[in-house]
Amino acid sequence: MTVPIAIIGTGIAGLSAAQALTEAGHTVQLFDKSRGSGGRMSSKRSDAGSLDLGAQYFTARDRRFVTEVQRWQSQGWVAEWAPQLYSYQGGQLNMSPDEQTRWVGAPRMSAITRGLLDGLNVQFACRITEVFRGEQHWHLQDAEGFTHGPFSHVVIATPAPQATALLAAAPKLAAAAAGVKMDPTWAVALAFETPLDTPIEGCFVQDSPLDWLARNRSKPGRDTTLDTWVLHATSAWSRQHIDLSKEAVIEHLHGAFAELLHSAMPAPTFSLAHRWLYARPATGHEWGTLADADLGLYACGDWCLSGRVEGAWLSGQEAARRLHEHLQ
Ligand code: FAD
Ligand code: NAI
Repeated sequence: MTVPIAIIGTGIAGLSAAQALTEAGHTVQLFDKSRGSGGRMSSKRSDAGSLDLGAQYFTARDRRFVTEVQRWQSQGWVAEWAPQLYSYQGGQLNMSPDEQTRWVGAPRMSAITRGLLDGLNVQFACRITEVFRGEQHWHLQDAEGFTHGPFSHVVIATPAPQATALLAAAPKLAAAAAGVKMDPTWAVALAFETPLDTPIEGCFVQDSPLDWLARNRSKPGRDTTLDTWVLHATSAWSRQHIDLSKEAVIEHLHGAFAELLHSAMPAPTFSLAHRWLYARPATGHEWGTLADADLGLYACGDWCLSGRVEGAWLSGQEAARRLHEHLQ
């Protein structure tokens, strides 16, 4: 019987590793604490349609990722998003067009990881609390007290703070992961029945509690019934207001949005707030992956490279490559 490789996390890093390992002839078994895939690239179903509350879009600069995104495009999982871009600084709103190609999942961000999951063995709603080694193989303990295994190797593809505990069997890797601080982001969605009177479709914001805002309906394939906006607070504001109630966060960021538009804004017909505790690594690293090849333990994720979708995908590829090479 083939002993499979366990992958913890079905964000883009875990699925990137899963895909590369499967292509190399390995069998993988995935676990995620959430009810669906995507992690920070997931989409939330709401009364205002499907909303991308995490990653807003992504860019592809590395040749390998460019090729992969082209494959996703041919599968119909992604489409280009060319918003009317603005920047807001010192109270001034200006058009800020550029030549950058930006990609989004279609018809929602989660379409990408949903597509990558096809045919893979995955267990959702399963939070892994411990990764331990038996005489020969690895086993996983979950929060319900169940044990999973045996596994030949384990790839941990969660944000660094969640990876630290799972890496206890490899203290050096655990220490490296523990050193990576991740900043939070408060995200708010506001939906208006009457479209706001502004040409903005995406805006990079400075000198405000806001960091970014996007008009959902400008993305390809989205529900256009309501004029829905996604607002992201800065890391600093999010940290300072980490324990604020969702209602208060919505009120604050709604106010910052009104200030940016210099208009009295109508009350939204729908609003929600989501707190990403581990939104982005506070510092960059060039590790690619963390590996103890002799033990058979690997960690990957955006925090091992750039804190972006591309970095997370490349990190998953790197973990898979290192694991496969060690077996040759
Ligand atoms: P994740 O997506 O976090 O996946 C980790 C998975 O592990 C999750 O599904 C989680 O449920 C699971 N998990 C965690 N612990 C356990 C456990 N103990 N047991 C089982 N499962 C577990 N990037 C861009 O390129 N462009 C952007 O515009 C952009 N905007 C962003 C905006 C926000 C608000 C946020 C939060 C992120 C943004 N990013 C953006 C960053 C991008 O989303 C991430 O870099 C990327 O999605 C990280 O992928 P990952 O697979 O490394 O981790
Ligand atoms: P990118 O090249 O579009 O943007 C990189 C940065 O360049 C932007 O943050 C912005 O400051 C600036 N910029 C780019 N185009 C601009 C324009 N037309 N006008 C004014 N400023 C412009 O995308 P890249 O490099 O792929 O970055 C991903 C984005 O994801 C970044 O904006 C980053 O802030 C965001 N992100 C947000 C996270 C969060 O938790 N809120 C986490 C990780 C990434």
